[in-house]
Amino acid sequence: MPVTTLVARADGRLIPAAGADRGDETTVSGAVLRAQQVRPGDLFAALPGARAHGADFADEAIAAGAAAVLTDPDGAARPRLAEPEVPLLVHDDPRGVLGDIAAWIYGEPSLDVAVLGITGTSGKTTTAYLVESGLRAAGRTTGLVGTVETRVAGERLASAFTTPEAPDLQALFALMVERGVTHVPMEVSSHALSLGRVNGTRFTVGAFTNLSQDHLDFHRDMEEYFAAKALLFDGRSTTEVVVIDTAWGQTLVTPQTITVALDAGTGAAWTASDLDSTPTGEQSFTLRGPGGLTIPTSLPLPGEFNVVNALLAAAILDVTGVEPEQIAAGLSSVQVPGRMERVDEGQRFTAVVDYAHKPAAVALALDALRAQTSGKVITVLGCGGDRDAGKRPLMGEAAARRSDVLIVTDDNPRSEDPAEIRAAVLAGAKGHGAPHGGEVAEIGDRREAIAHAVSLAAPGDTVFIAGKGHETGQDVGGVVHPFSDRDELAAALRAAVEGARL
Ligand SMILES: Nc1ncnc2c1ncn2[C@@H]1O[C@H](COP(=O)(O)OP(=O)(O)OP(=O)(O)O)[C@@H](O)[C@H]1O
Ligand SMILES: [Mg+2]
Repeated sequence: MPVTTLVARADGRLIPAAGADRGDETTVSGAVLRAQQVRPGDLFAALPGARAHGADFADEAIAAGAAAVLTDPDGAARPRLAEPEVPLLVHDDPRGVLGDIAAWIYGEPSLDVAVLGITGTSGKTTTAYLVESGLRAAGRTTGLVGTVETRVAGERLASAFTTPEAPDLQALFALMVERGVTHVPMEVSSHALSLGRVNGTRFTVGAFTNLSQDHLDFHRDMEEYFAAKALLFDGRSTTEVVVIDTAWGQTLVTPQTITVALDAGTGAAWTASDLDSTPTGEQSFTLRGPGGLTIPTSLPLPGEFNVVNALLAAAILDVTGVEPEQIAAGLSSVQVPGRMERVDEGQRFTAVVDYAHKPAAVALALDALRAQTSGKVITVLGCGGDRDAGKRPLMGEAAARRSDVLIVTDDNPRSEDPAEIRAAVLAGAKGHGAPHGGEVAEIGDRREAIAHAVSLAAPGDTVFIAGKGHETGQDVGGVVHPFSDRDELAAALRAAVEGARL
């Protein structure tokens, strides 16, 4: 892509390389934000940051073969770029245009792969997996961009961020197109929207789950947080699908919006009826869609909020032309790593691993499970070290209030003394006598805590392992030991099932 074309399309200003004339014929073949990642021919995006200006790393980038530099007037004025060896593309808002520029360089890949964006405070990962499962049931070649992993036609890439930086994202879409991917469900965080990481992306569908108090460390208040999420609905999504169970969702509705709600009284296009759940946490219900469409389905995920996620996924799948039978097949066979993930080894109670690691998330998950549990709720919970210490007693309280038995254990202690973290959780737990018996125990060793929880369970109970979700390691003093809640829970359940047979 000629730099002059980028300058014209982005409405920027060209400063030719020192000694070159205005008819600059430089072309670029990629875009990167980090000087260390530059490959010959790349456009290096030298953006202003909180601590440093990318322009200060221009030497490294140019030495590595950067063919041109995108920066702001401040960056262009830095001594380092005063007499540039490569052309500069100067723009007042380089971060804002970087997504478009990257998209142009990579051939606007989101026009060739259907990007299905999902935003909201919770349920993004779950909904993305539900959508992917339905697409696969329909035989489509899928990608996935999310918190847990990034997938390209069956190949797994580890995810560092919920949404990659703009150049990485466009390169990823281009790779997907190359590999024959036709549809990519994607989690879109409010950070990504407000930092312009998804600029340049055309969304075939933009979907909204819900909004609750979260990430207020980054956004000033709920209005600003909502405004960031609402950017997915500023015209960049061809079809908009919105959960209208909350007032926030309702404000996004236009005459073209496809609406989704658990509450049929809202008049939403997609609702559910005949909800039922089994003692091992599976759910069944009838999806009701536009034009009298009814789809009987089952869902292996417990909790009423997962019915909403399933409805949202069904509406998205319907937009992409997936048939009702395939929607049902996808929902009933979904596997979501560490999000209300049921572990079934033939035991006669519900056992669930969930990533909930904030007070509100713990409360919500436990409320959802309580509503579907006839017996006791037995919870295993710890808190991470080197993170917000204020939430520890609150998590202890949220869990104790809603559990018949709470076993306080270690999460990722990191550099902290695990006993002190447990003491803080216990202080919150013990301060609030639970209506459900509220027995509280302390077992530091997470494996033992999980085994103990399982040993207490009887038919009709629920065992809930909170906090680490899909994680595969436990960080103790900076050393990450292999540890999977799912595997430990499965092993304990197998032992219990075997024991009961003998
Ligand atoms: N629709 C929902 N409403 C409320 N809570 C939900 C909903 N879906 C999932 N949850 C709860 O929130 C937790 C996070 O779910 P999930 O990972 O699907 O959300 P997310 O939006 O991807 O979160 P993150 O911002 O951490 O990536 C789950 O473990 C579950 O306890
Ligand atoms: Mg997520």
